[in-house]
Order: sequence, then structure tokens, then C-alpha cells
Amino acid sequence: MAHEMIRIENVSYKYGSIGEENPSMVINNVSMSVNEGEHLVILGHNGSGKSTLAKLMNGLLLPTEGNVYVNGINTRDEEKIWDIRETAGMVFQNPDNQIVATIVEEDVAFGPENQGVPSSEIRQRVDEALKIVEMIEYKKHAPHLLSGGQKQRVAIAGILAMKPECIILDEPTAMLDPIGRIEIINTIKKLNKEEKKTIIHITHYMDEAVEADRILVMEQGQIVMEGSPREIFSQVEKVKNLGLDVPQVTELAYELRKEGIDVPQNILTIEELVKAL
Ligand SMILES: Nc1ncnc2c1ncn2[C@@H]1O[C@H](COP(=O)(O)OP(=O)(O)OP(=O)(O)O)[C@@H](O)[C@H]1O
Ligand SMILES: [Mg+2]
Repeated sequence: MAHEMIRIENVSYKYGSIGEENPSMVINNVSMSVNEGEHLVILGHNGSGKSTLAKLMNGLLLPTEGNVYVNGINTRDEEKIWDIRETAGMVFQNPDNQIVATIVEEDVAFGPENQGVPSSEIRQRVDEALKIVEMIEYKKHAPHLLSGGQKQRVAIAGILAMKPECIILDEPTAMLDPIGRIEIINTIKKLNKEEKKTIIHITHYMDEAVEADRILVMEQGQIVMEGSPREIFSQVEKVKNLGLDVPQVTELAYELRKEGIDVPQNILTIEELVKAL
């Protein structure tokens, strides 16, 4: 059986203090797991609980009910919280909020410094991380002068320098221009395929979701769809009813089918559509 990097067992979560009458569950009895090496995408419209689920996955939030295990460690285990954070690193939407230093290399060194990594090894880790995200030539630059995509790559390098096995990215491209988005998508693919990192990627962009091994769709704190990108996006009506789009070519193929043109239902790429026509 594949090794489980993250395991979520019957988890519910509500904001506000336990016992308070009003707050309703924003995560509602969810069970799921993420295998080592997997590239998982989580979709769902605004407020469906994606960010909350992400924060439960590395102990930033603790479940109101149920348990979360990160590489076998229960996130309730207070003594292991740093092991958990080192195993599952988080990248957020806004790169500006994640950059803490005035020089790129110092920023990337911040995480391992806090981990107590010896300084000679920190230097090595910083260089390696900056090479992976293709920002090594900016090592001595000031982060605030970089583009959004470059800043976000520096933020990712800062996480990589802590050597996590799993990286959780919560809408990492939402604030970027199209070029920055492509830079980050390519970086995510590289982290998964070459660096063998387990990836959990929350996004609103369907063309990003197509890259995943598996997609989960959330709605009102529950997982309502699960499957490969092909399985998910072949259910055009269902996806749309959940307030989401399908990738542009899938949409086009869907419209063509409605017009009576015989194309398969599970088109995901332009090449596939061209071939079918
Ligand atoms: N700190 C908080 N306190 C109280 N309620 C919160 C808090 N953060 C989120 N919520 C509520 O929890 C629900 C789920 O929010 P969450 O941020 O997890 O959704 P999301 O799927 O990430 O949404 P988005 O696509 O907008 O990022 C929403 O109803 C939201 O209003
Ligand atoms: Mg969110």
C-alpha cells in the first residue's frame, strides 16, 4: 500500500471556542488521505472550506472533532508540532506577507535558522532551494524589487530550505500576472516530478487542476467529488452546478457535443480536441 503523507479521519472544524452555540462546522466530517509523492489539487468555490482544510493539514488548526495525521504523527501531539510543520510546509497566496528579510538569501535562510540547522548547512540549503526555483542569480537582491512570480518562488524556496516532504500551496498564483502564474505552475510540477515532493495545491484555475494526479472538490465543508482530472472534468454539468468552471477546451468540446458534433466527453487538452475533430 502506498505510504500516506496526510491522513484526515472524520474531521470537523468550527471557528470560535468549543462549546459556543452559534458557529457551524466549516469542515463537516471529512475523511481523506494524500499519498506520498502525489500531486493533489483541491477545488471548491469561495468559502467551501479549502483554506481551513489546508491549515488542518499542518497543525495550524486542530480539528474540533476527528484526527489529522501528518506522516503518521497526530497534529494534536504538541511535542511534535515542529516535526509536523517541517514535514508539511505551507505556501500562501500573497508573497509579500511571506517575505521576512531584505535580501533574498537571508529570507530563504530564515526557516532553517529557526530550525537550528548549522550555518554551513544553511548556506548549502539556501543555494539548493534557490536553484530549484531558478532564483539563484537573485540571491543578493532585495525581494521587494522582484516580480510577483519571483517573490512567490523565493517564498517557495524558503519552504524548500526546511526540507519538507510535503508542500501545501493555498492559491499560490491568485495574486500573480499570467507570466508569474506560469512560473509557479512550472515550479510546482518540478517540485513534484523532480524533487519528489508531495503536493497539495488549492486553486481556482482549472487549467492548473488539469496537471494534478487527483482532484478533490469541496462544497460546504465536505468533499463532494473526487477523481482524476479526466474523471472530474468529464462531468461538466456537475462541476458547473458546484459553481466551478471546466478547462476551456473541455468547455468547447462540451458545447460542440451539444451541437451534435461527435467529440468525446473527456477532452482535457487542445491536442486531444484537434485529434477528435
Ligand atoms: N478566522 C475565521 N473565523 C471565522 N470564520 C472563518 C474564519 N476563516 C474562515 N471562516 C469561515 O469558514 C468558511 C470556510 O472558509 P475557508 O477560508 O476555509 O474557505 P475557502 O474555500 O478557502 O474560501 P476561498 O476560496 O475564499 O479562499 C467560510 O464560511 C468562512 O467565512
Ligand atoms: Mg481559501
